[in-house]
Amino acid sequence: MIHRQMGRQVASSTTVGSLQTGQGQENEKEVRRNGMTQTAKKSLYALGLQQPRFAYFNGEVRPWEEATLHVSCEAVNRGLNVFEGLKGYWQAGGVEFGIVELRRHYDRLSRSARLLHIPVPVSYEEFRDACSKIVRALYEPGKDMWIRATLFVVEGHWGESTVADLVLTAYHQAKDAPAPVAVGVSTWQRSSDISLSPRIKSSTNYQVARLARIEGKKRGFSEMILLNQQGRVAEATGACVLLVRDGCVITPPASEGRLESITLEIVRKICHSLAIPFIERPVDRTELHIADEIRLVGTLAELAPVTRVDEYELPPTSPLTDLIAETFWDAVRGVTPHPAVELTFV
Ligand SMILES: Cc1ncc(COP(=O)(O)O)c(C=O)c1O
Repeated sequence: MIHRQMGRQVASSTTVGSLQTGQGQENEKEVRRNGMTQTAKKSLYALGLQQPRFAYFNGEVRPWEEATLHVSCEAVNRGLNVFEGLKGYWQAGGVEFGIVELRRHYDRLSRSARLLHIPVPVSYEEFRDACSKIVRALYEPGKDMWIRATLFVVEGHWGESTVADLVLTAYHQAKDAPAPVAVGVSTWQRSSDISLSPRIKSSTNYQVARLARIEGKKRGFSEMILLNQQGRVAEATGACVLLVRDGCVITPPASEGRLESITLEIVRKICHSLAIPFIERPVDRTELHIADEIRLVGTLAELAPVTRVDEYELPPTSPLTDLIAETFWDAVRGVTPHPAVELTFV
């Protein structure tokens, strides 16, 4: 479908796979062990801008340059799409490549699509095969990958005759531990469930996040936390917020305005296995300033440690979330498999 439209008007098309993540490559320091040493870098979402050789669209892996959308389609005109960000890790030993929670990502993509009345053009099996194809076309030994799966609305008008195409782009990622970050609380607010539900993972839902990041950059923060309409903690621009108070791991529930995070579910199960109390409850802004530990949690952020919120420094050590993060990393990389993490091998 994209192909057909592209044929009509190549000159006025827009590339589908532009990557809006951080580029920081500075301040490296080694932080891991187990023969899988990671390198901490300053930027939280340290993928860098990349232009891979291939993208998957219109049912096939095709040259990157051909992955274009027509200016008149709803995906461009109204920013109509839903998407997922998935992560694949080279497993310990380096011969297998495992994608984390593929089924859950497909299910969330389908839920986002349902909420925006976008038809899902592929079954789970077709989705899995498509992800395998793009990863195999692009992977390189030792480099993990972040895969963006997007349903772009390529035909239709205001909800009539809507047709979507599955587009996959994939980017290399070094084995970096997420860098510690200072975060600010944004003046921008997370939308509510009755405007654009945070449950819907759509590009349009990231416009406010973008404003918050621009605001944060001017204030010296690489990531920002958004409050909800009630002034309580919703989430960061690209991750959920996890804090520790008095030995309890706490996170706001999805009804406070956060994405239904797949990584948070993994963390919940890891906490259970480690006998660490995990509580979902509304979180006040000032709790961010007095927390014992804070992490940003998500597919790309993994479990990034937070050093400061606004002008409030956090304690220098984070024993509870260090333990959770180690268990997470060992599970996703197959060093010590954990029932909380389901991997699909490609
Ligand atoms: C706004 C937002 N919240 C939370 C998350 C974390 O979700 P997940 O753990 O499923 O990656 C993400 C990451 O995609 C996100 O973009």
